[in-house]
Amino acid sequence: MLKTKGLEGVVATTSSVSSIIESALTYQGYDIDDLAEHASFEEVIYLLWNERLPSQLELTHHTKQLTSNMAVSTELINQMKSLPVNNIHPMAFLRTIISSLGLYDNDADNESLEANQQKAIRIQAKIPTIVAAFSRIRDGKKPVSPKSDLCFAGNFLYMLNEEIPDKVSIKAFNKALVLHADHELNASTFTARVCVATLSDIYSGITAAIGALKGPLHGGANEAVMAMLMDIGDAANVENYIQNLLADKKKIMGFGHRVYKDGDPRAKHLKEMSKQLSMITGENKWYDMSVKIDEIVTAEKGLLPNVDFYSASVYHSLGIKHDLFTPIFAISRTSGWIAHILEQYKNNRLIRPRAEYVGPSKQTYKPINKR
Ligand code: ACO
Repeated sequence: MLKTKGLEGVVATTSSVSSIIESALTYQGYDIDDLAEHASFEEVIYLLWNERLPSQLELTHHTKQLTSNMAVSTELINQMKSLPVNNIHPMAFLRTIISSLGLYDNDADNESLEANQQKAIRIQAKIPTIVAAFSRIRDGKKPVSPKSDLCFAGNFLYMLNEEIPDKVSIKAFNKALVLHADHELNASTFTARVCVATLSDIYSGITAAIGALKGPLHGGANEAVMAMLMDIGDAANVENYIQNLLADKKKIMGFGHRVYKDGDPRAKHLKEMSKQLSMITGENKWYDMSVKIDEIVTAEKGLLPNVDFYSASVYHSLGIKHDLFTPIFAISRTSGWIAHILEQYKNNRLIRPRAEYVGPSKQTYKPINKR
């Protein structure tokens, strides 16, 4: 049996984008606790892509670039309208549209650093617009254009609902974006790096990463957590429901982590946000149920919640449709994927590991009528 199944514990590259050391997550050496408390998502994008925090002037310029690139073309909106939207997972839709965004970019295959930096801005800026437009098209509504006086977080909520969001919602959503922005060599980031290490283009890298994030063992877990909460329905049912899952050796979504064994440092922020938002909405049952599940799973299995567990009730309290939770993760993680893609290009070597062969040997071909 392979000792490194799932590449557990394998150090596959060097990176200066983010680190997980002794259960602390840092972006460019800044602790996530510090950034979650103080930074805007725009600042975090700058930090990840430029290896340092921006000056006020740089941040103003960077924010302007993002805002002015948020709108998507009529051609893209028409293409989105022509695709099936009902009974389609938004992550599948997003994967398709990010890929086709590259078709409208004359510089898609220009691999110069300047061209890649411009593409990075375009992709990062347009991804919230695409997710919001998908949601509206699916609901039979007109997509909404971004507003130049709203921040990144505020613009997404505005484009989703065609309403200027309140300050509390913007602050909470900004924090969620900051917390999800990067996470060392997670599955989707590794996918992006493997893809561009062939010297494929940045659109291919992001498209591949979206495909990897979609799975329920990765980004898809936040939606699965909410589905579980809905299925449980009431705090009184939690104990029975979770004990049954554990007895059946089923996985409890939003718990466990390949790297963190002492807890995911992002979870406490999301737990606090979930509590605060539930007090504001007055619908505290999702938070209460989550805490109860957390207590049981921790006591019974010693497993702690990961980033996906409390983010489910946070997004629900913000009035976001459940199947948009993972696309929102993608909006944020695009910043980290891009940072890793740019880092990969800077010092590239094809990523091509080996497999230990365990199949049959010395086979001789038999004609089909003799098999
Ligand atoms: N519920 C119940 N048991 C679990 C859970 C869980 N959530 N997570 C791990 N375990 C158990 C496994 O059944 C296994 O037990 P066994 O040794 O008795 O068979 C043991 O803990 C080790 O689990 P693995 O799945 O081998 O751990 P791995 O490191 O491969 O997986 C993962 C990590 C995928 C996150 C896993 O904990 C999991 O499936 N969690 C649920 C899905 C989830 O929340 N994913 C989001 C992760 S964070 C992110 O990607 C953003």
